[in-house]
Amino acid sequence: MLIEKIMQVKTGKDLHQFKRPFLNRRINARMKAVGVRDGSEYAKLLESDSTEPSILFKSFSINVTEFYRDSFVWECMSSKIIPQILKNNKTLQIWSAGCASGEEPYSLAILLREVIGTKNVKFSIIATDINTDAINRAKKGHYLSQSLKNLTPGVIAKYFTPINNDTYQINESIKQLVAFQQGDIISFPVERINLITCRNVLIYYDKPAQELVFKKFHKTLNDDGYLVIGQDETMMGMTSGKSFSCILPRERIYSKLVSGGNLVV
Ligand SMILES: C[S@@+](CC[C@H](N)C(=O)[O-])C[C@H]1O[C@@H](n2cnc3c(N)ncnc32)[C@H](O)[C@@H]1O
Repeated sequence: MLIEKIMQVKTGKDLHQFKRPFLNRRINARMKAVGVRDGSEYAKLLESDSTEPSILFKSFSINVTEFYRDSFVWECMSSKIIPQILKNNKTLQIWSAGCASGEEPYSLAILLREVIGTKNVKFSIIATDINTDAINRAKKGHYLSQSLKNLTPGVIAKYFTPINNDTYQINESIKQLVAFQQGDIISFPVERINLITCRNVLIYYDKPAQELVFKKFHKTLNDDGYLVIGQDETMMGMTSGKSFSCILPRERIYSKLVSGGNLVV
């Protein structure tokens, strides 16, 4: 398709990695927004306008998120996964891959603060997203009350400061626990991770792209590491499924499998 070729040249991004229906929906939405009638007219705009290619690429980044999204997953991380990791580790390295505006990594920071309490455990959270605007919003740390709806009043009072009727600022004590960086999951340099959360990111990517990301996660995780994916995501039927064990199917939580120290795939 001509649009994909132009995008490859102008942005260096390969659009084939996205699922076709998703790609078509985003391109159609953009065509409607700029008022062009068909694909060839839009291709001309992508060629001639210096900003349109990056605007189109940004529209592939869906930033919907909230604190403790799917709260039963967070309950399970708090009661089972984090205590299990802490049995063998005195320091914790966590990667929130595709963190959007920060709700997920800040939820991790709050959860760890609550679970660890006064114990002598050091942890760090790396949070990355391909979208620079999302990273900037995350660093600012202002959130509407709607985004906090899964948190108890006690947790909100402890970790947030109201700015006005409907907006809260995450407290500095939590902010400083998360290091935000812009970057694509596939090329981001990171290693020796105990827990990766990559939720509601891969749903937009086709199977070969997902396989590549899972392979990267396998390499990135320590041998006793865990991966949490989104509720609508799965490794079922994928080659990567042989490199992880789905230990909590409802929560979509996987543990890394190691075969003679090598990746099974
Ligand atoms: C729907 S949000 C999910 C946010 C959070 N993980 C959650 O579950 O609530 C998906 C995020 O993934 C990011 N994303 C998509 N592809 C990415 C990639 N290849 N590398 C890094 N981030 C990516 C998007 O920019 C978007 O902010």
